[in-house]
Amino acid sequence: MDHFHYRDGRLYCEDLSVADLADTYGTPLYVYSQAAIVGGLKSLQTAFAALNPLVCYSVKANSNLSILKVMAENGSGFDVVSGGELYRVEKAGGDPGRAVFAGVGKTDEEIAAGLKAGVLMFNVESEAELDAIVRVAKAMGVVAPLALRVNPDVDPKTHRYISTGKKESKFGMDIDRSLALGYAIKGNPHVSMIGVHMHIGSQITTTEPYAGAAGKAVTLIGQFREMGHPVSWFNMGGGFGINYKGREAKAVEEFANVIVPAIKPTGCRLVMEPGRVIAGNAGILVSRVLYTKQSGEKRFLIQDAAMNDLIRPALYESFHRIWPVIVPAGLPAPPDDYEASIEGTEPWDVVGPVCESGDFLAKDRALPRLDRGDLLAIFSAGAYGMVMSSNYNTRPRAAEILVDGTSACLARRRETYEDLVEHELAALGAPGALG
Ligand SMILES: Cc1ncc(COP(=O)(O)O)c(C=O)c1O
Repeated sequence: MDHFHYRDGRLYCEDLSVADLADTYGTPLYVYSQAAIVGGLKSLQTAFAALNPLVCYSVKANSNLSILKVMAENGSGFDVVSGGELYRVEKAGGDPGRAVFAGVGKTDEEIAAGLKAGVLMFNVESEAELDAIVRVAKAMGVVAPLALRVNPDVDPKTHRYISTGKKESKFGMDIDRSLALGYAIKGNPHVSMIGVHMHIGSQITTTEPYAGAAGKAVTLIGQFREMGHPVSWFNMGGGFGINYKGREAKAVEEFANVIVPAIKPTGCRLVMEPGRVIAGNAGILVSRVLYTKQSGEKRFLIQDAAMNDLIRPALYESFHRIWPVIVPAGLPAPPDDYEASIEGTEPWDVVGPVCESGDFLAKDRALPRLDRGDLLAIFSAGAYGMVMSSNYNTRPRAAEILVDGTSACLARRRETYEDLVEHELAALGAPGALG
């Protein structure tokens, strides 16, 4: 969280006051630090340098064009899972030749778009998808480069919704099926198997699952090569965890310490698909208190950010640090240990205006007494925040700001009510209506 820090009791993103940003651009507001984003990318490029890595930033984590542009300018490739994400990468000036096309349900149109753009490779998730890729590549008269996505059957020990490397997962194929598919496509002139892909889950905070997966990958790479496949890439996927609460995550160097020595003897180049570890702690969501309310013993802090802005707490019961943007006198910066009792605080449920009991950002959270108009920072919101937002309750999506030192760029303007209805107006007989 280094690029978000308190100076004299006020939160800064790099060299800009978050309170000033909120006053200028309104709330709820996503604020991202460019230095944090670039720093995350560089630390991966350095830690895995021995494997000549291609870091393919996972666009799904945060797909704002300004962020993709910064990533492209700093040498990142991209991991895309839809035609829409590929479109964004191209719009932002990214090189599709440094993009991997993943996703469990690619349509023929998306496959064709990937081939036309010249993606580095497709991550293939099933036999049926491979058939589709062969068919589309043949029709286009091109050879499709691909990696098989294999489930190494290791337990990443993470939330069940973001665990993908187990045998029973909907993603990828087990090792036996991948070997059978390897035999089946031997000599097929329309595809070239140049890689092996494994992504075992997200928010992984121990190195053991990666050690287990890398060991299995090495064996598999050897077996595919014996079949004659020119495998020269190993794609380790994403999944490195970050600190949401305290110091629960490992540094990327610790992951490198188990992955690099395992893969080095294969001579493969490494592809990585990091999302959260780059964007997660590079962004916060800023909200403003609307009301406080007490029901029985419960205290509610009703503020203007809701589950439509940040769904992670409702969906995964995930923890985000929350602390005032301007800290009341006598209180510290956000504490590392939220379990400890913090003098001057009391437990609050931090909730939004959406009509759902699941609309909460935190439960029983130690916070000082706050009043209408006070600002809150919801930390670690840069990944899987804005991208998972919605217009539920016809709430316009938040604005997004990208900070670079002392300058702020409006990376996405706040939506208006007009934005929210524009695709429905034709039905009311506006110009362009059918019939
Ligand atoms: C195939 C694949 N690659 C990469 C990622 C990015 O994961 P993370 O943000 O945990 O690094 C995901 C996330 O779900 C994924 O499914």
